Amino acid sequence: MDCRHYDAGRCRSCTWLPIPYADQLAAAERDCRELLGEDLDWRAPFASVEEGFRNKAKMVVTGSIEEPRLGILGEGATGVDLRDCGLHEPAIQAALPVLAGFVTRAALAPYDVAQRRGELKFVLVTAAPSGDLMVRFVSRSQEPVTRIRKHLPWLLDALPGLRVVTVNVQPEHKAVLEGELEIVLTEHAALALEVNGHTLLLRPQSFFQTNTAVAAGLYREAAAWVDALGPASLWDLYCGVGGFALHLAAPHRTAIGVETSVEAIASARETARRSGAAAEFVVGDATAFATSAQELPDLVVVNPPRRGIGTELARWLQESGIRHVLYSSCNPASLASDLEAMPGLRVVRARLFDMFPQTAHSELLVLLERHGDAVGSRP
Ligand SMILES: C[S@@+](CC[C@H](N)C(=O)[O-])C[C@H]1O[C@@H](n2cnc3c(N)ncnc32)[C@H](O)[C@@H]1O
Repeated sequence: MDCRHYDAGRCRSCTWLPIPYADQLAAAERDCRELLGEDLDWRAPFASVEEGFRNKAKMVVTGSIEEPRLGILGEGATGVDLRDCGLHEPAIQAALPVLAGFVTRAALAPYDVAQRRGELKFVLVTAAPSGDLMVRFVSRSQEPVTRIRKHLPWLLDALPGLRVVTVNVQPEHKAVLEGELEIVLTEHAALALEVNGHTLLLRPQSFFQTNTAVAAGLYREAAAWVDALGPASLWDLYCGVGGFALHLAAPHRTAIGVETSVEAIASARETARRSGAAAEFVVGDATAFATSAQELPDLVVVNPPRRGIGTELARWLQESGIRHVLYSSCNPASLASDLEAMPGLRVVRARLFDMFPQTAHSELLVLLERHGDAVGSRP
């Protein structure tokens, strides 16, 4: 992928950009093999397209009302305009210049970090595979809401795929992306993402994987591995909007998803209700849910944030006697320390999913199987 911003030294977020894509994939897989060893069933890496794959844009807004910049904070906290960043899906690339025009039209003053003046901090855009969009304006206060509402018909006209528009209020002067208050300005409050025939509903404050095509591959692979094992019951811990649970649910199998985000669970429940999927969803902390459960499943899926599942849940899984764990990790370091706490569960299969081309990051799906005599007693 060619990038004029990288070449000019304005943005170096894509640390692997100069490396040919095939070599990137080989290097990522080599790192994973070094971590887990060769004595397991390594499946061929799942590649991504090299550009136009990011389904979300997190743009810092700088500059002025007349000449807004949507991008990153570069050297000396100067805004760098990256509205033509080649990583974003085409629908996002097409929308960003329109959104810059909207900033001017609705007179949304970019927030100046040094001066602590202005309103608009970020524009967050998410694209569905259909090209439909969700746009969130992250603002210091509710001051611009009236103007955004007033000019919204123009924006909806200019971006026919725009389904969800919100204002997120983030009053704090700190480097956090979003606040708690979310004001929905459109009829729809959730973006529908078609993934392998499942309609996942994404609300503003819920997580979804960055690369939809690769996420679809990840869920298909997980479903194939789980179907081959045929568990009668499973948990999907850290389930987000239910991607794993909804793909793994089956008529003779109970599936329970657990997640701290109330919004994400509401979406997952709605998807299950609409599709009739045999999956239940619970708001809660994954570790607290597992350690207080009365009945244990045959299989557990975990897909935690970068910090991993942590020692308490890993030790609980080690002691639980559960035979299979499917661990989808975006951080090899936390995966390694979690595996150390589960010596009774052995990695028997692994596959790398290149969720983040042009960077050293990727997603690794591993199947853990309880081995031999090490089966622990149920808590
Ligand atoms: C990497 S995302 C995975 C989401 C989902 N599995 C998917 O495929 O989109 C991690 C999720 O864990 C949730 N989470 C964070 N801490 C948690 C906790 N202690 N217990 C349960 N869920 C948690 C986050 O809200 C986020 O949705």
